[in-house]
Amino acid sequence: MNGSSSPLDEAGFVATVRARRMVRNYRTDPVAPHLLDGLLDLARRAPSAGNTVGTHFVVLEGPDQTRRYWDTTLPTERRQDFPWPGLLSAPVLVLPCGDADAYVARYGQPDKSRTGLGEGADAWGIPYWHVDTAMATMTLLHSTVAAGLGALFFGIFDNEAAICTELGIPDSVRPIGTVALGYPADDQRTSLSAQRGRPPLSDVVHRGHW
Ligand SMILES: Cc1cc2nc3c(=O)[nH]c(=O)nc-3n(C[C@H](O)[C@H](O)[C@H](O)COP(=O)(O)O)c2cc1C
Repeated sequence: MNGSSSPLDEAGFVATVRARRMVRNYRTDPVAPHLLDGLLDLARRAPSAGNTVGTHFVVLEGPDQTRRYWDTTLPTERRQDFPWPGLLSAPVLVLPCGDADAYVARYGQPDKSRTGLGEGADAWGIPYWHVDTAMATMTLLHSTVAAGLGALFFGIFDNEAAICTELGIPDSVRPIGTVALGYPADDQRTSLSAQRGRPPLSDVVHRGHW
């Protein structure tokens, strides 16, 4: 490698990161089960505090399963005003979930007990179950793009209790949101949020001090 070349491979990881944009309009084509398993297997390789590995994925595949999600979170009468109708075509929905109890138990073990975080979920300033689940979700998004598919992470908001009941998600476990995943439709409309663009690097990097 000469002095001017970058260790970052423009054709590989860099291209994946640059290509990733949230996809809100999907073809109905199914995602092959072995491909989906491969994406989820990569997602679970994300880092995990104390190697607790308290992230779980509730996976809904195919129209019969995804319909249960949409019937719970977006009743038919609200669909005509929904700005992203092509999102309902996504063949796969993944709910990445963090299990608070697993982290409290792990940090109560001898090698972590000095942190005091084994006392209970309220002792955590930064709940690592959310951090780990976000890291796994990001890995899932990048893996999905690297495989030639698209994805959208979106919020569950006040539908959380209803969807947890519908899908049998235990009390100590919270989905941080939902990932829609599948093959992008040809026409993609960008969101108002995405149109805000990104600030320059110098606005977000604070060298030496803020
Ligand atoms: C925590 C989080 C929550 C988001 N929630 C939503 C959402 O509810 N609906 C949506 O359409 N996009 C949602 N997004 C996507 C953002 O709008 C999007 O990432 C941002 O506009 C930048 O666009 P890009 O990801 O395509 O580069 C969310 C993204 C994050 C990280």
